[in-house]
Amino acid sequence: MHRRGFLAAGLATVLGSVRAAAQMKMDGMPGMDMGGHTGHDMGAAPQGVAVLPEGEALRDLPRLANEAGTPGLFKARLTAESATARFAEGLDTPILGYNGTSPGPLIEAVEGDRIEITFANRIADEASTIHWHGMPVPADQDGNPTDPVATGTDRTYSFDLPEGSAGSYWYHPHPHGKTAEQVYRGLAGAFVVKPKADPIPAAYGDTVLVFTDLRLAADGTLPDSTMTDLMNGRVGDHVLVNGQKNPSLTVPFGTKRHFRFYNATNARFLRLSFDAAPMTIIGTDGGLLEAPVAADDILLSPAERLELIVSFDKPGTAVLRTLDYDRGWMGPGRANDAGLTLFTVKVSQTPAEPVPPLPDTLRPIARFGAPAVSRRFVFTETMAMNASGMEMGFLINGAAFDMKRIDVVAKAGQVELWEIVNKADMDHPFHVHGTQFQVVEHERDGKVSEPAYRAWKDTVNVARGETVRLLLRQDRPGPRMYHCHILEHEQLGMMGIVDVQA
Ligand code: C2O
Ligand code: CU
Ligand code: CU
Repeated sequence: MHRRGFLAAGLATVLGSVRAAAQMKMDGMPGMDMGGHTGHDMGAAPQGVAVLPEGEALRDLPRLANEAGTPGLFKARLTAESATARFAEGLDTPILGYNGTSPGPLIEAVEGDRIEITFANRIADEASTIHWHGMPVPADQDGNPTDPVATGTDRTYSFDLPEGSAGSYWYHPHPHGKTAEQVYRGLAGAFVVKPKADPIPAAYGDTVLVFTDLRLAADGTLPDSTMTDLMNGRVGDHVLVNGQKNPSLTVPFGTKRHFRFYNATNARFLRLSFDAAPMTIIGTDGGLLEAPVAADDILLSPAERLELIVSFDKPGTAVLRTLDYDRGWMGPGRANDAGLTLFTVKVSQTPAEPVPPLPDTLRPIARFGAPAVSRRFVFTETMAMNASGMEMGFLINGAAFDMKRIDVVAKAGQVELWEIVNKADMDHPFHVHGTQFQVVEHERDGKVSEPAYRAWKDTVNVARGETVRLLLRQDRPGPRMYHCHILEHEQLGMMGIVDVQA
């Protein structure tokens, strides 16, 4: 950790939380071992009390119905409101839902469609927005914190999905200072844009799996975040798949399934492996790769998505498990997250109908030309003691987010090289709004490597001590946010604004 002694004067305000400082004192900060990876969790709610049922049949996500009668138009309404979920037997959990559900309804549209979604904010006493994570939407339709939708009011988001924009996007709130909380209380949903001509055989299906992270107190409520949560990002006790714990699916052997994995957690890194079933990566955040890539395991950092083909070749059980991944942790309370079973596929003795093979090539991904501008973004963590406790800051180029400050001015249509330098002690998944980028290089300990494949992404993990270089171009003018997608870090300042000028 980079101890600077003092924080910028404005930082205390973005910390936004007297409660946080008070909580920190209660947790007994003096003497805590900042490097330790073991020990009791500071201030976490009682754990392991609520028991969640496992092994129920995987539910399909509810779909957002298209109310338009006109081809090429997708019109619907999304209401954010209090809802009740039943995660554990006999316990009602107050959550926030979109149209009453968490994850929110699956939105499926097709390239070329026009989207008109009316957002009704019915969250008591809180502003919200809907941000269309990863989607090429105009800046003023993108649910930025600068465009809040007040409680009790509606607003319509309208945008066109350009040709070539097929991909696995999602939607979530982005109000100033409340994003992390509204997301862990339940607001997040998948938005799939299908291509007009899909090279993936239809017989593989198309199954969205949204991973969320639940912490449930013994009385069934969602506890407030602690200081540990603010520092590391809130990691829950139960990883859910489409809102269920370890759901199951039965398939005939020989089945190939097309899955879209979404990491919609606030802060949990998911290194995953489907034992006894080979995985092939076919797409990333912004759609298909050029060609399929076989993978033994995958790392999905918060907000990342992957499209996979999984082959269930042998009768028996294939289990999606978490593997160990050390993403850096401040203070005690790091859970041992390896070996969790997220999803169980029962492969029956019945053979599947023969299906067409996966094509060798999927689509071209054009390389960017030479960048006109290079920029450098340095991520740091700061911590300082003062009279009221410990204050932390998560900074980009030494500054905490300020809604009124433009950090970078860019030109629409111009290729830029962004260098994201992580000088902090935790991994930080970097995300930028409004476009898809291509990672060109990783550098760690002086060693430079290229990614295994070219891909469209809007979120990339930047490991501790790592530098990631990416090429991007913003085609639409307006202000765009870029930030760490550990939502508590975003909230504590690790965000900036690039103003794209026409
Ligand atoms: Cu998922 Cu600022 O976004
Ligand atoms: Cu986003
Ligand atoms: Cu971060």
